[in-house]
Amino acid sequence: MVKNTMGEDVSRRDFMKVAGAAVGGLAIGAVGGYSLIPPKETIVEVPKDVPVAMDVPSWPWTYPKLDPEAAAQRAYDSYWVGGCSYAGFEGIVGELKAEVGFPFTQIPSQMMKYGGGGGLGWGMICGALNGALAAMNIISDSYAGIGNELIGWYTEHAFPVYEPSEPNNEFDLVTSVSGSPLCHVSVTTWSNTAGVKESDTERKERCARLVADVVKKAVELMNAQADGTFTAMFAPATAVTGCQSCHGKDGMLDNVATKDNCLTCHEDPH
Ligand code: HEC
Ligand code: HEC
Repeated sequence: MVKNTMGEDVSRRDFMKVAGAAVGGLAIGAVGGYSLIPPKETIVEVPKDVPVAMDVPSWPWTYPKLDPEAAAQRAYDSYWVGGCSYAGFEGIVGELKAEVGFPFTQIPSQMMKYGGGGGLGWGMICGALNGALAAMNIISDSYAGIGNELIGWYTEHAFPVYEPSEPNNEFDLVTSVSGSPLCHVSVTTWSNTAGVKESDTERKERCARLVADVVKKAVELMNAQADGTFTAMFAPATAVTGCQSCHGKDGMLDNVATKDNCLTCHEDPH
């Protein structure tokens, strides 16, 4: 807490004004990263173009409902700028920046670029999911329900569905269901179904449209939660709940921590 010359507490925002005003003889060190304007005898007007520190609201940030179609289009366009994970985030946070401004304008969407290719090309969680989930997590402390729904829906959904109004590439794309939220499984399953190579433009066009699908679904879930109408629809396959009844945290073995479909990677060994 910052004190003024009278020993009264002042907020950081007030502090800027106080520090700029006549506080002769007051010696204070830099506080909270702000460098102090040296004491002057006259009132100092802070020029308009000097950045003013604003109080960032505490989490979660207020969410006004968004247009799922607008977010989907922003995600599609963003894919070609910064990749899948950036696009999954920017589709939502870019809309919030445009519709609300501060505090969303304080977040560089480029922070999600690492998520491309399932995390720097490691084929882990699909970048579209990674970006959209991070955005959900900013605006709700009940992110787990809608986030789990998004991931579960992803594993069962035939991608891509989105038809861009101005496609980067005119392709008539086939669809596939990955059964897994993993980038590697999703991309390779689709590439094999389509008969294309992973590095083909057709595969990139597929992922661009997939990000739009994921962002649209994410915004629909966020809107439903804002309306109080969200209900979880996803239920894991009975094969998986069966495995988890012994291997999951409530089972006798308690040695497996995943909701991913066991049979994608394991033959049933029993
Ligand atoms: C009735 C309880 C039960 C269920 C249901 C069950 N398992 Fe197991 N599983 C076991 C036991 C017990 C072992 C042996 C553990 C050990 O030896 O440490 C085991 C071992 C395994 C192993 C280790 C490899 C091996 O051959 O020993 C794998 C992999 C595995 N289970 C996968 C699965 C999958 C996938 C499913 C669902 C399709 C499943 N389990 C369902 C009890 C269960
Ligand atoms: C993305 C692939 C993948 C998925 C999905 C997956 N596993 Fe595995 N699992 C592995 C790998 C890889 C290992 C380590 C190598 C091994 O032991 O087979 C492993 C190891 C195991 C082991 C230990 C095997 C041993 O020999 O001790 C068990 C038990 C197991 N998994 C059960 C499950 C269950 C149950 C599920 C679903 C709830 C599941 N796994 C989902 C890939 C997967």
